[in-house]
Order: sequence, then structure tokens, then C-alpha cells
Amino acid sequence: MKKRIPIIVANWKMVKTAEESSAFIQQFYPLVKENLNKKRVFIAPSFTALHAASVAAKGSFIQIGAQNMYFEAEGAFTGEISSKMLKEAGAEFVLLGHSERRHLFGENNALVNKKVHRALKEELVAILCVGETLKEREEGRTEAVLTTQLKESLAGIRTEQIRHLIIAYEPVWAIGTGVSATAEMAQHAHLLCRECLGGLFGKEGADKLSILYGGSVKAEVMQELMQEPDIDGVLVGGASLNPETFAQIVNKA
Ligand code: PGA
Repeated sequence: MKKRIPIIVANWKMVKTAEESSAFIQQFYPLVKENLNKKRVFIAPSFTALHAASVAAKGSFIQIGAQNMYFEAEGAFTGEISSKMLKEAGAEFVLLGHSERRHLFGENNALVNKKVHRALKEELVAILCVGETLKEREEGRTEAVLTTQLKESLAGIRTEQIRHLIIAYEPVWAIGTGVSATAEMAQHAHLLCRECLGGLFGKEGADKLSILYGGSVKAEVMQELMQEPDIDGVLVGGASLNPETFAQIVNKA
């Protein structure tokens, strides 16, 4: 038995409107309700759907959160959004350093680090995403890449702060491609991450941290993934967009 409670996160990316998000939650909740005392379910809709989603999820134990935020508290940062705004809209967590932010919008570890600091300071759960590209894996650099991402993105974070931290290992080559990492490959990477986290926060700290796998997760691979000792849950994109499909994933975790 694992000590860490399973966490299942939906990342809806730039897909659902506010109305669609509420409708999803209304259909989805009855399908997973019985299991929600044994697992944590998080949903990250778009910014404009946060409020509607958090109203729809009220009293359900489903937690609503954002896909990104800026690290400054407020000011002249056109187009950005603050932790205070997210919290006001009902967000309880935020994804940080997602592969699409890193690769399409040029976010680097230094920027992600500032965001992690802000989120933890404001008591928003920070889900820090890391992962290697196919090229990095083929060059045998997976361990080095993951270690650098974790060390730099978590620089200056103190062990007392990590109760609000979750790590997501998402190999870039598995995101949205239909090619999921095997459970064995994911476990190997999760163990590397946990060892690195042990170096940062001590073994006890690292043992408490949940590490999620993300990248083409489907219900069929859940059992295998969740059997691995260091895989504590999943971060799901495509397969989280349909209430039935996502409910199957939640119920199998
Ligand atoms: P995917 O996305 O499940 O569609 O591969 C995962 C993610 O980007 O978080």
C-alpha cells in the first residue's frame, strides 16, 4: 500500500468555455462521487472558466485550478494573471512549467522558479511539470534534464513549504502524441525525480511528495501505472475532455 493518496489532474488546455466546463462537472461528478473520499481530483480549465467551474464543483471535493500564472503580485504586466486573481476565481492549485509553456512560450526554469515561489507563498498548490524531449532521451540525457529542471525550478524552496507542492513528470514526446511512456519507463523517471527531491528536501520530504505521470494517459494504462511504487497519480490532457473517459481514469486510479 502506498502512503500517498492518488491524485488525478485534468488539464483542459485551451479547450472548454465556462459553460462547457460547468456542464462537464455536472455530468462527471455522479460518475466518480463514490471514490472521491479515496482520491484527489483536480481540474484545470481556462482562466475564464475558473469561476463557473468552481461554482459547479462546490461541495464535491473536486478541486479547481489554473494552468499558469504570473509571479508578480500585481502591476503593469499586460495580459498576465496573478495568484490573487486566481484564488478569487476559485482556484486552489496552479500548473507551472507545463511543457507547452516551456516550448511554445519560452518559459525557462528561472521563470518557473519565481512562479513556484509565488504560488507557495500564496498557499496555492503548485503542480510543477518537468520532462525531457525525445532528443534529450535519445542522447541519454533524461536524468540530467530532469535533475536540472527540478533543482532550478525549486531553487530556494524550503522543506516546510513542500506540503503545497506536487511534481508532474511529463515526457515531452508523450504529450498529445498517443504514445504513452511504459509504466516501467515512467517508474524509472519518477524514481530519478524522487532521488533528486531527496537531495533537495531530505528523504522524508521526498517520500511525502506526490509525483504524477502525464503524457497520453488513458484508462487502459492506469492499472499498470498506479502499481508502480513511485507513481502517485496522473496528469491527463486529451482523455480528460470527455466526462465518461475521465471518470474511468479516476475510478481506476
Ligand atoms: P495528453 O496531455 O494527456 O493529451 O498527452 C497531457 C498534458 O499535457 O498535461
